[in-house]
Amino acid sequence: MKAFEPAAMGLLTLANRFVRSATYEGLANAQGLCSPGLTKLLVQLATGKVGLIIAGQTAVSQEGRADARGLCLWKENHLPALMDMAGRVQAAGGKIMLQLGHAGIVAEPSLTGKAAFGPMAGRRTDGHICRSMTRNDIRKTTVSFAHAAALAREAGFDGVQLHAAHGYLLSSFLSPHYNRRRDEYGGTVENRARFLLEVLLSVREAAGNDFPVLVKINVNDFLPQGVSVSDIVKTAALLEKGGITAIELSGGTLRSGSLNPSRTGLISRENEGYYKEEAKYFKDKINVPLILSGGLRSLDVVEKLLQDGLCDFAAMSRPLICEPDLIARWKQGDTSASMCKSDNQCFRPVRAGKGLYCLTRVQEGKKSMHRPA
Ligand SMILES: Cc1cc2nc3c(=O)[nH]c(=O)nc-3n(C[C@H](O)[C@H](O)[C@H](O)COP(=O)(O)O)c2cc1C
Repeated sequence: MKAFEPAAMGLLTLANRFVRSATYEGLANAQGLCSPGLTKLLVQLATGKVGLIIAGQTAVSQEGRADARGLCLWKENHLPALMDMAGRVQAAGGKIMLQLGHAGIVAEPSLTGKAAFGPMAGRRTDGHICRSMTRNDIRKTTVSFAHAAALAREAGFDGVQLHAAHGYLLSSFLSPHYNRRRDEYGGTVENRARFLLEVLLSVREAAGNDFPVLVKINVNDFLPQGVSVSDIVKTAALLEKGGITAIELSGGTLRSGSLNPSRTGLISRENEGYYKEEAKYFKDKINVPLILSGGLRSLDVVEKLLQDGLCDFAAMSRPLICEPDLIARWKQGDTSASMCKSDNQCFRPVRAGKGLYCLTRVQEGKKSMHRPA
């Protein structure tokens, strides 16, 4: 089966084509340091034979923080626990990357001590007023991404992923829904992609050309004047030219209602891989490996997507919260679909500060391998 064959992602060789899509675990401590519970959870995924594990969004600066229990990476003292995490995952046979992000307009002022900022000034639904980023803010944030990537390399990670999806900072610049700037960072596709491209180039310079750098982008924001497929394929072509290693396709934002990135409701086999239609446009024009995420639940569906050439890697989030050993189970011959019900109950313990686990499995009296001690 193609899904279980080793595959190259840039200079990296992965044991198979399964990726753990970045998932906020809510298991860092208040200072954003990796905890033993978070390391344990990621080691479980490596033992469960996931080819590439992408840890949840890691803030590259204090002002980019969205979540009290999210990982942070801008100081030397963030390094020791992350070095331990990377080393333990690799010792368990896994490959691990950090997802580098900045929350932008959804940054949490009680954590950052500052007004949130983004492409434009505006009032959030919670009443908080965000300010518009100056060129200096953009420059400083670009440096933060580059510095975090260099630290990630030093900590022993196999690469980083730039979070440019779901309406967070880099995503909001790509999207005309959020970005109506009149300077060189707004307007045309090239202008809206400029910030992300500058981040990519700075990350490459700081972390080295041989260090894998992935990006997660929205194929559609599902918002008025949100990104369109044709725009984002052009952005992907610019990223390819800028040396991106692989592109993960996602979609939606927290404002996109039922079309948010983690859609609820049992997913029919036909609807698995919500962005597979859009993936075709990328496959026609883009030559870097494509990772498809969003509602993948069955091995044969994944295998067909790979065989049909719609993607090169299959990423999952919620199925691996429900069953961290899903890939090992499939490999061993039990190929029944993921038990994930896509009910998003997994968000509840994370938001309550208890860390990520499958609440549904616990409520059903089943063991949740993920549940923190
Ligand atoms: C609890 C939870 C936390 C998430 N955190 C992140 C994150 O930090 N970064 C990210 O890019 N996506 C995040 N996502 C979205 C997933 O990576 C994925 O794109 C989405 O859930 C669709 O995939 P799935 O159907 O396999 O769950 C999160 C999803 C869940 C359920």
